[in-house]
Amino acid sequence: MKSLFRIITLIAVSLVAVSCFQEKGRNYQYFPNMYKSASYETYLEYDGDLFENGQEAKLPVEGTVSRGWMPYEYEDSNEGYQNAKANLSNPLPYTEDNVNEGKALYTIYCAICHGDKGDGKGTLAQREKILGIPAYNDAGRAITEGSIYHVMFYGLNNMGSYAVQTNEFERWQIAHYVLDLKRNLNGEPQREFEDAEIENASSMKKGIALRDAQVEHSNEKDSLAKGQDENSASATDDHEASEMSNHETSENN
Ligand code: HEC
Repeated sequence: MKSLFRIITLIAVSLVAVSCFQEKGRNYQYFPNMYKSASYETYLEYDGDLFENGQEAKLPVEGTVSRGWMPYEYEDSNEGYQNAKANLSNPLPYTEDNVNEGKALYTIYCAICHGDKGDGKGTLAQREKILGIPAYNDAGRAITEGSIYHVMFYGLNNMGSYAVQTNEFERWQIAHYVLDLKRNLNGEPQREFEDAEIENASSMKKGIALRDAQVEHSNEKDSLAKGQDENSASATDDHEASEMSNHETSENN
């Protein structure tokens, strides 16, 4: 008897709960504040002139550089290519470490097309998947470290850009190795390694390491619950970063 009563109550309660449901109309929202927050939503459109463009989110200030990204001043155009070819030089010293790193990266990213020797006869060329891959000693092209960097950054026709897979430090390491291959193809003697101690690019290396650490750090922070006091946590990084850039500017002067 008791359980029958329970069953009836349960059915009655369920009926009450679902009976107001309309398939075609708007139904009640449970906790509407969860759907419609009182604060402005970043990307929603708002009427009136409260915000420029009616949107809370603003475009970054002109000249803003996003974290983890260094500006590259040469344009993706024929002119930019020629400029880079003539003027851009490798900031990394030609040390054994840098060249070995460059070789490893070259083998990962470039050899499949350009071949281990840089003669343009990589696996994809032999299988005729990609055509028109030049040898690095192609006289008509007369590649320079600047042009090598430029094509890695933007790509060139059938060759894609490597700006995402590699950072600028790695691209310069690869550029060293590509010139090595060019010299080998031409039968020229090996370039002598620079002393690892010179490390005039150590600030660049340090800068990139620091930047990568910051990117990782900020990704971690983003995924953490908000509301913690982030200022104190990032204060040390910012300090280091500004030290870094001071260092670089004084070097450039
Ligand atoms: C998918 C195949 C492919 C891969 C992978 C590839 N390249 Fe290329 N590369 C090409 C082709 C094709 C060209 C010729 C592009 C043209 O001139 O139309 C080229 C041209 C070049 C040139 C000559 C550009 C000039 O100034 O004329 C250089 C230098 C070069 N690649 C370097 C690299 C480096 C370094 C990597 C690795 C980071 C790489 N390539 C990866 C296909 C590839």
